[in-house]
Amino acid sequence: MLLPPFLTLTFLLLFFNASVAAIYSTTTCSNIVSLRYRSDRISVTDFGGVGDGRTLNTKAFRAAVYRIQHLRRRGGTVLYVPPGVYLTESFNLTSHMTLYLAAGAVIKATQELGNWPLIAPLPSYGRGRELPGGRYMSFIHGDGLSDVVITGENGTIDGQGDVWWNMWRQRTLQFTRPNLVEFVNSQDIIISNVIFKNSPFWNIHPVYCSNVVVRYVTILAPRDSPNTDGIDPDSSSNVCIEDSYISTGDDLVAVKSGWDEYGIAYGRPSYGITIRRLTGSSPFAGIAIGSETSGGVENVLAEHINLFNMGVGIHIKTNSGRGGLIKNITVAHVYVENARQGIKIAGDVGGHPDEKFNPNALPVVKGITIKNVWGVRVNQAGLIHGLRNSPFTDVCLSNINFHGMRGPRSPSWKCSDVFGFAHQVSPWPCSQLSSQEPGSCAI
Ligand SMILES: *[C@@H]1O[C@H](CO)[C@@H](O)[C@H](O)[C@H]1NC(C)=O
Ligand SMILES: *[C@@H]1O[C@H](CO)[C@@H](O)[C@H](O)[C@H]1NC(C)=O
Ligand SMILES: *[C@@H]1O[C@H](CO)[C@@H](O)[C@H](O)[C@H]1NC(C)=O
Repeated sequence: MLLPPFLTLTFLLLFFNASVAAIYSTTTCSNIVSLRYRSDRISVTDFGGVGDGRTLNTKAFRAAVYRIQHLRRRGGTVLYVPPGVYLTESFNLTSHMTLYLAAGAVIKATQELGNWPLIAPLPSYGRGRELPGGRYMSFIHGDGLSDVVITGENGTIDGQGDVWWNMWRQRTLQFTRPNLVEFVNSQDIIISNVIFKNSPFWNIHPVYCSNVVVRYVTILAPRDSPNTDGIDPDSSSNVCIEDSYISTGDDLVAVKSGWDEYGIAYGRPSYGITIRRLTGSSPFAGIAIGSETSGGVENVLAEHINLFNMGVGIHIKTNSGRGGLIKNITVAHVYVENARQGIKIAGDVGGHPDEKFNPNALPVVKGITIKNVWGVRVNQAGLIHGLRNSPFTDVCLSNINFHGMRGPRSPSWKCSDVFGFAHQVSPWPCSQLSSQEPGSCAI
């Protein structure tokens, strides 16, 4: 092909740019929320904030947020937290704001719990998750907001949760423990480049939200800290979780949608959830769906997940009385090292909010694809227990290799009430899967 020189150059440049893009571009869902430029900036120190680790900064944070909420500057406002340790009680965020933590900034929850605000239970749970009645408000809270960013230079939000964990252990809690960060009924949220530490309960809890991005976060809590889930998208849609490290005492990411009769009545599913390039460690699950899934969970993709020292690698969990449809869940490209179980899909997990649940409200689980999994030092390969009156269907496994602990015994599979298909799975899975036709499994 003979082209005028300038065209050749154009083609070359196009080709070059395309190849560079192919090498360097990374798949991402983080563009579901666009980052707004905010020219209005204030600092928590303008409102009397002192980062000496002892002064209580509740008034400063609340006054700064009040100012943002009521002055409503065009494009929103950045609330800057300079280096230092800012002790505070819980506070609310407002719309069109960025909470920016500088390098070395720590927002630290007080351990004086006397004034901790109580709020109403979530309608889809009917009560607090741990105890009947209301629940403590999250340390950093947002209700009915849009266009909120929590970011910075990897500053820390520290829940100082040990006082709460001890109350849980000693059974002296009166209400359900607070999450570290919770957004209720909110949209267009970005949480990035922040370290979350020692949450009293779940770390990041978007509930009844849409368009949420959580990226470049580190979430840390001791392995024995109770219920310190990493990120729990709950009755929320279009949630993008990427490029993060989570090591806590409970599930790293757990997609939820309400609890038994309350969740069924509220009827708000979680859907469009992407989890990508996540690394972590936990005595419970890496990628979890459930166990509260009464509003349904659909269209979840988790890929490029690296898990170390785990309870269960991939755990889909529900129960009789939950109802809810769990459908079109794909988990792919998983490396798991040192785990009790590689894969668990079970219909007998988790308790009930009260005695009013309907035992005939059976969950439906179908269209679960798990592929390209490599596991080493995995004690049991897989456990799949469907429900007799609602067997799990279209469970598709492919290209899965689990290697056992040291010794001759290879990790085994155990299944009941499940239909599906397996292709290139080692050790060979249960007959319920391996003897089926592909059906709707697109392998
Ligand atoms: C914070 O938000 C909660 C829940 O919306 C509300 O009950 C509470 O009054 C708010 N607190 C302040 C200080 O604005
Ligand atoms: C903050 O942490 C993220 C993820 O761990 C990392 O990619 C980023 O480079 C860090 N940023 C700064 C400013 O240190
Ligand atoms: C299944 O979920 C994926 C996201 O993981 C989505 O892209 C796809 O469209 C869904 N399929 C159907 C049939 O809804």
